[in-house]
Amino acid sequence: MRARLLGTAAGGGLPQWNCACAMCVRARQQGGGRTQDSLAVTGAGRRWYLVNASPDIRVQILAAPELAAGPGWRETPVSGVLLTDGELDHTIGLLTLREGSPLAVYGPGAVLGALQDGFPVRRILDPYGSSSFHEVRPGETFTLDEQLSATMIPLSVKRPRYAGPSPRMVAEGAESADPWVVGYRFDDHLTGGSLVYAPCLAAWTGPLDHALAGAGCVILDGTFFHDDEMLRATGQDRPASSMGHLPIADSSQRLRAHPAARKLYTHLNNTNPALAADSPEHAMLAADGIGVAYDGLTLDL
Ligand code: MLT
Ligand code: MN
Ligand code: ZN
Repeated sequence: MRARLLGTAAGGGLPQWNCACAMCVRARQQGGGRTQDSLAVTGAGRRWYLVNASPDIRVQILAAPELAAGPGWRETPVSGVLLTDGELDHTIGLLTLREGSPLAVYGPGAVLGALQDGFPVRRILDPYGSSSFHEVRPGETFTLDEQLSATMIPLSVKRPRYAGPSPRMVAEGAESADPWVVGYRFDDHLTGGSLVYAPCLAAWTGPLDHALAGAGCVILDGTFFHDDEMLRATGQDRPASSMGHLPIADSSQRLRAHPAARKLYTHLNNTNPALAADSPEHAMLAADGIGVAYDGLTLDL
């Protein structure tokens, strides 16, 4: 399997258009910007699947040689999109991918429902005729190409804001039955390689631990390093936990139980101090053998 990180920033990207926090100012002055998170993955190399469709999807596809159109007129290796949630930073790009190539979109039922209703992408795309939507159930494994399968990992019941308040951010067992947020484990049956991708993680759960067992590579939600990071960086009192993001300070401790895997963080918010390679937070991660993913990073597994 080959995986390419198309984008690695949280919603808004780095720099964010209306933000003058220290990290956004630094990115404007010195470069090192990031596009909003998305992953492309393939087994045999002919068909590629995106995990989430960010608002930056057009420039991300153009920046990836593996995803170039051809050889036929209107032929593209991009065959489908797996959704981890219905957040705008993961779904707006579906509207961009409407140019007539057949696209299979996979996601949990709650998210496919939200895309019919609160953010009616499915109704909008219907007349364009090229996308089909497929519900996947928690724990279900489905085939992507002759080598590669994906298994859905239920994670939490956190809804996008446009879909109304989340009844309980993390209720015992609720996430398994009808999740709004999921991750995926990819398994390559030819190489034995495996990858867990979970860019939105509210809490460490049993299904996640199970999916991580023996995984060769793990890419997790790195939105915030500290729970009170928004307050520190922008003065807004919005703890990471209230926004459905487990801080790196917590999840990195949990990752210690999985010593063999290559570990990376993605979906980094522009407030995250680990974005700076010279920060103490970046050094703490490095000491634990954990990396910060970057746009264009390619993994062969
Ligand atoms: C999130 O990751 O929490 C959301 O994407 C936030 C947002 O952009 O609304
Ligand atoms: Mn997001
Ligand atoms: Zn900022």
